[in-house]
Amino acid sequence: MKLELTADQQAFQEEVRKFAQKELAPKAAYHDKTQEFPVESLKKMAEMGLLGMSVPAEYDGAGVDSVTYAVVILEISKADASCGVIVAVQNSLVALPLYKWGTEEQKQKFLKPLAAGLRIGAYCLTEPNVGSDPGDMETTAVMEGDHYILNGTKTFITSAQKAETFVVFAATDRKAGNKGISCFVVDRETPGLSVGPKEDMLGVRASGTAAVTFENCKIPVGNRLGQEGGGFRIAMEALDCGRIGIAAQAIGIAEAAFEASLQYSRERKQFGQPIGDFQMIQAMLVKMATEIEASRLLLYLAAYKKDKGERYSKESSMAKLFASKMAVENTINAVQIFGGYGYTKDYPVERHMRDSKVTEIYEGTSQIQNLVIAKAIAK
Ligand code: CAA
Repeated sequence: MKLELTADQQAFQEEVRKFAQKELAPKAAYHDKTQEFPVESLKKMAEMGLLGMSVPAEYDGAGVDSVTYAVVILEISKADASCGVIVAVQNSLVALPLYKWGTEEQKQKFLKPLAAGLRIGAYCLTEPNVGSDPGDMETTAVMEGDHYILNGTKTFITSAQKAETFVVFAATDRKAGNKGISCFVVDRETPGLSVGPKEDMLGVRASGTAAVTFENCKIPVGNRLGQEGGGFRIAMEALDCGRIGIAAQAIGIAEAAFEASLQYSRERKQFGQPIGDFQMIQAMLVKMATEIEASRLLLYLAAYKKDKGERYSKESSMAKLFASKMAVENTINAVQIFGGYGYTKDYPVERHMRDSKVTEIYEGTSQIQNLVIAKAIAK
């Protein structure tokens, strides 16, 4: 058994790490403060092929494996967590369903521009009254001739502010629950589609998160992804991969907080010595370092199983559950190590603490991850 990245994976990791630290990290505080969608950073990431990194080259993607994908999301998130979630959603929740369930025509039309980074994508599942139980969604799609008429509102949609391609889930048969959900690809230009103001959030503040409303939107039948009634499965499989991305994001945030804490613990002196010489500070650093490595192994396991073509729902939920809790606890400790300074915006650790929290919430709360794992181990 080898626990090392391959030479190619390492080379890509190094390239993205250098880029992220040089180009993304210096702008992260600005993006956090202004909530400005990182358009310029995304353009650069598109040039590197990162916006379609999981898509095969024949559809203009970079065609990297899932382990590489996880490593890349980690490095981006370590530098700027908002960029991390935007790129993760683009790849796992938007491009992946299009690649797996799209017809050749849909791939040419919708997937290629996403993979090339010419368009930003968003995934519309959550609604004002429906979060953990998407089978009960209120957004409807009613077939009329060769079109569906889409009505409803989706909330907390990452990238909605700038997205041009929306993967949207709607009930084509509300009585059928999970089996009555269908999936559609919707252009931003569609009459009746409107995007609300961006959410003023605790963390990932530059992720362009907003509500999206569909009012009598006329969607060609040719924009349906997969079979009518097959949308729930598409949503769940996309989230399996999405959760790898969020686990990677959580680890990236925690790593950034750990490295800042380690450096500060060497510089900051109290009682005549660096605080890093005190065992109580060391214990917090040890907990961070150990739990980051444990999370990384869970992350790699989920990505490895995906690459082998096996079902990996349990592993991606485990990775997300563990890594998100780890990130929240350890970024709180990072603020503690920095003391009063950590509580100010002069240092990045308060941002890491705020950014970490959402990893326990989006793409399935920790409670939902427990449910997925419980179902899998009961089998
Ligand atoms: N892969 C393939 N099939 C799957 C699947 C998966 N991962 N998960 C479920 N299914 C299938 C099941 O096999 C079952 O199929 P059959 O009916 O043929 O047996 C069917 O789907 C229904 O499955 P369940 O009975 O398990 O469904 P459930 O209603 O009990 O719900 C759940 C399961 C895990 C709670 C699910 O609803 C869930 O994950 N909820 C959370 C949703 C979520 O993560 N929302 C986050 C919003 S997205 C977001 O945050 C986006 C963003 O912008 C960042």
